[in-house]
Amino acid sequence: EKANKLTYDLMIQGLKNGTYKKIVVLTGAGISVSAGIPDFRSPGSGIYANLQKYNLKRPEDLFTISYFLEKPEVFYEFAKEFDLDSFDATPTTHFFIRLLQDKGLLSMNITQNIDNLEAKASIQDDFLCQAHGSLRNAFCAKCKKEMDFLTFKEHVKAGAIYRCNAAGCGGPVKPEIVFFGESLPKSFFKSMKTVEECDLMLVMGTALAVSPFNQLPFFTSQGVHQVLINRENTNATSVHDFEKGNYRLFVPGNCDDTIRKIVSDCGWEEEFEKVLPE
Ligand code: OAD
Ligand code: ZN
Repeated sequence: EKANKLTYDLMIQGLKNGTYKKIVVLTGAGISVSAGIPDFRSPGSGIYANLQKYNLKRPEDLFTISYFLEKPEVFYEFAKEFDLDSFDATPTTHFFIRLLQDKGLLSMNITQNIDNLEAKASIQDDFLCQAHGSLRNAFCAKCKKEMDFLTFKEHVKAGAIYRCNAAGCGGPVKPEIVFFGESLPKSFFKSMKTVEECDLMLVMGTALAVSPFNQLPFFTSQGVHQVLINRENTNATSVHDFEKGNYRLFVPGNCDDTIRKIVSDCGWEEEFEKVLPE
């Protein structure tokens, strides 16, 4: 039915008049690109297009647990080049999620990002699920013993592998981010409840290429509105085509531009100014 097709204007109406009260926001690396952090899969600029010097068979090996156990030095070298502490939350997209939180409309921000920019935008832990882990703790990749995070960081800086000190182990230590071949944190499975109960799903800056995260849009109630705010439709790498289906909408372009327009079309500019950093 064409008449019932979700449109941009219908979404704005729903946001403005409070039809949407339990919004789940799914995010990926694309929302942090304007903060200066490259995404993974964009041709040319993405991390996966710039790993030639590591001679990997597949770029994903860099974040694969079996590969890390064999050759931890590759991830350590990569991590040395990235000081994620030095980036700021994006004043548009990250703070829009914060605005939804402050307006009481955010049910959960489920993110694949490990850059901690959500916390820098003061998105509270209760409203944040870091599905691919976080950069706050470190564990032995072999026996899972918790190790000191600051010592891990010092080792990365010095270009030395931090090894587990459990008797007879010696496994390489890695941050608490989810590698391919590892399970997702419990919080991810708990966040499923917010997905089941949400009345709007906003998907921003992700190719939805990685499972099980990319299954989340299948777990909303039937007919719940789903909006993809992204440079590209996700149908190339995932099973989700946001140009198809009455309840789905694809808004192409840079997420900061789209969010700025949404804020303006909702008449939320003044409130938004107030949550922005000085
Ligand atoms: P990807 O690099 O796969 O996807 C980023 C998406 O954001 C792409 O569709 C881009 O077109 C889009 N994009 C880039 N810049 C944008 C912008 N300024 N505005 C709007 N869209 C933009 O990154 P993720 O989907 O986050 O996991 O990748 C998922 C997972 O794959 C990561 O968490 C990581 C990676 O391997 C693990 O390592 C386990
Ligand atoms: Zn160990």
